Amino acid sequence: MLVIWILTLALRLCASVTTVTPGLCQEGQIWNGKQCVCPQGYVGYQCLSPLESFPVETPEKLNATLGMTVKVTYRNFTEKMNDASSQEYQNFSTLFKNRMDVVLKGDNLPQYRGVNIRRLLNGSIVVKNDVILEADYTLEYEELFENLAEIVKAKIMNETRTTLLDPDSCRKAILCYSEEDTFVDSSVTPGFDFQEQCTQKAAEGYTQFYYVDVLDGKLACVNKCTKGTKSQMNCNLGTCQLQRSGPRCLCPNTNTHWYWGETCEFNIAKSLVYGIVGAVMAVLLLALIILIILFSLSQRKRHREQYDVPQEWRKEGTPGIFQKTAIWEDQNLRESRFGLENAYNNFRPTLETVDSGTELHIQRPEMVASTV
Ligand SMILES: *[C@@H]1O[C@H](CO)[C@@H](O)[C@H](O)[C@H]1NC(C)=O
Ligand SMILES: *[C@@H]1O[C@H](CO)[C@@H](O)[C@H](O)[C@H]1NC(C)=O
Ligand SMILES: *[C@@H]1O[C@H](CO)[C@@H](O)[C@H](O)[C@H]1NC(C)=O
Ligand SMILES: *[C@@H]1O[C@H](CO)[C@@H](O)[C@H](O)[C@H]1NC(C)=O
Ligand SMILES: *[C@@H]1O[C@H](CO)[C@@H](O)[C@H](O)[C@H]1NC(C)=O
Repeated sequence: MLVIWILTLALRLCASVTTVTPGLCQEGQIWNGKQCVCPQGYVGYQCLSPLESFPVETPEKLNATLGMTVKVTYRNFTEKMNDASSQEYQNFSTLFKNRMDVVLKGDNLPQYRGVNIRRLLNGSIVVKNDVILEADYTLEYEELFENLAEIVKAKIMNETRTTLLDPDSCRKAILCYSEEDTFVDSSVTPGFDFQEQCTQKAAEGYTQFYYVDVLDGKLACVNKCTKGTKSQMNCNLGTCQLQRSGPRCLCPNTNTHWYWGETCEFNIAKSLVYGIVGAVMAVLLLALIILIILFSLSQRKRHREQYDVPQEWRKEGTPGIFQKTAIWEDQNLRESRFGLENAYNNFRPTLETVDSGTELHIQRPEMVASTV
């Protein structure tokens, strides 16, 4: 009985572990019918981070074409040569292709696969065509095709440079050319597109930031933040992060330094900043103190000018001064043997002859304020 119970419990546990239902997918994940996965191009907790890189599927063979234009002289372009199915077109194109095979094939160009004529044009006969190249895949395919283009160009120029021998043979058996009317494209047109894979497989919204580069000896779709590529962005001491706006450097904030700049190229010691700020604060504080002192001094001066001085002037008009004078007079006069009354008794001035119209000018005393 107990054994059965344990068995059923174990079975139930197993079932709950192995069968995950769509409803149990973490936030951000999607149910693909078998399991919970991140949407294409995303990775990490809640599938929020775009992939750092993903591999490019490379074929065994790569092909490319090199466009060129050759002018065949001593032959007349006919109306029928506009039609690729006409006998004239067929005869001429066969002749041309065979000659190109002879010229271009060789040990130094095993990648040559033939010539594809695009059009025949009037003007003797102008041949617009593509040289087809096919090479084994290699990591350095770009350089390889560059070199192949150089070889093709050298061979074609050598062929068209041939000095004319006999116009009659040019009209029949062999092809003669105009060297100055021979043009070979500077670079090949690849018949493959690895960038397309990056665009298709990258996370939505980030497609424009992925490109093909070599990572760990293989082609991969990477972005500027992918570590280990030649094109990796240098964030100095910062960390690179691919954001919706593009790759960005996140600058570190250490205990000793602050970092900033597009690639965290600038930094400053915190102690230096604190020192400068402290010095500036000290200077400001000092300036403030001086200002306060000057202000209070000027206030005090103004106070005196406003109240002290007028009071002095006002005193002149008040009886106080004269009272004092009177006291002084009184005392002196009282002490003397001639009292005021005596004086008035003996001294009787007559004012009839005094010109009362005469004005008496007395200079008003000035108060000179001395600076403190
Ligand atoms: C080479 O080019 C042809 C078209 O000319 C194309 O069909 C073929 O898939 C290409 N092969 C490779 C390996 O890219
Ligand atoms: C091409 O046409 C010219 C006249 O327009 C003629 O003189 C010449 O013989 C022709 N050449 C050939 C190869 O038919
Ligand atoms: C080719 O060009 C020549 C001179 O420009 C002209 O006389 C001749 O009719 C042209 N031929 C065709 C087929 O267009
Ligand atoms: C094309 O070439 C064949 C034989 O190679 C010849 O019989 C025929 O007359 C040529 N046609 C033209 C239009 O030159
Ligand atoms: C250049 O052309 C001449 C004559 O067609 C040929 O003998 C020679 O091998 C060619 N040289 C190269 C490098 O293809």
